[in-house]
Amino acid sequence: MSQPTARVAIVTGAARGIGAATAQRLAGDGFAVAVIDLKEDDARATVEAIEAAGGRALAVGADVGDADQVQAAVDRIAAELGPPVVLVNNAGVTRDNMLFKISDADWDVVMHVHLRGSFLMSRAAQKHMIDAKWGRIVNLSSTSALGNRGQANYATAKAGLQGFTKTLAIELGKFGVTANCIAPGFIATDMTKATAERIGEEWEPYVAKRAAAIPVARAGQPEDIAHTVSFFCSEGAGFVSGQVIYVAGGPKA
Ligand code: CAA
Repeated sequence: MSQPTARVAIVTGAARGIGAATAQRLAGDGFAVAVIDLKEDDARATVEAIEAAGGRALAVGADVGDADQVQAAVDRIAAELGPPVVLVNNAGVTRDNMLFKISDADWDVVMHVHLRGSFLMSRAAQKHMIDAKWGRIVNLSSTSALGNRGQANYATAKAGLQGFTKTLAIELGKFGVTANCIAPGFIATDMTKATAERIGEEWEPYVAKRAAAIPVARAGQPEDIAHTVSFFCSEGAGFVSGQVIYVAGGPKA
């Protein structure tokens, strides 16, 4: 059970999928959790699930790529839940297409959410971590960072997050703040369901096909990623920083 004095965590893109599972896991670990998504209403179901399990959470609507909205969100979280000392930059979007068909807008929106979003959230939240002399930042990369056909925009953003993470680790380490990156492989979520639908494949056979190429012979679940976030945010992981861990059921993307 989280107490009013519990450390506060922020998870972005936490209405569904990996973000929702991570928010619930961190609440189970004893954090009070700010559940950020584009619309506050969309974040409510995750908050209700946390509260039903005896945890403490706050739904916050914000576009993580908008500096004013980010500052307002972090200020509100600090006032209503307490100063945030954990930040999980999970919010993400895909706009898959072959390079010659990626529009300017589809390039920009992917950079806006992943890169500008993680930058703005980290810049706003780090102050509270520095004050507390303790913090954990976890950025969600992807196996796509290694290159993936149809994802020049997404792969660029996810590779960028790895360099961002390592730099935060170097700058913030002396203040007790670690920064690490998780690169998920194929995880069964609304995002991968939408991909299957877009390319005209039935979900179950699509999952089976993907699982057949994964050494542990199954699709990943949001909880697989939440578990890894939990490790990085734990007290005992204070000497682990600037790392990228591929959570993909095997060594390759
Ligand atoms: N100039 C002109 N033509 C070109 C060209 C260029 N530079 N490059 C390729 N082409 C042509 C090809 O020759 C081909 O032409 P033909 O059909 O005449 O042979 C055509 O463009 C491309 O046709 P395709 O049918 O191969 O491709 P498509 O445009 O229909 O779509 C795709 C390809 C974008 C890759 C699509 O299949 C797709 O979106 N696949 C899924 C991508 C994916 O894996 N996404 C991951 C989602 S999960 C996730 O993101 C979570 C995570 O973190 C892992």
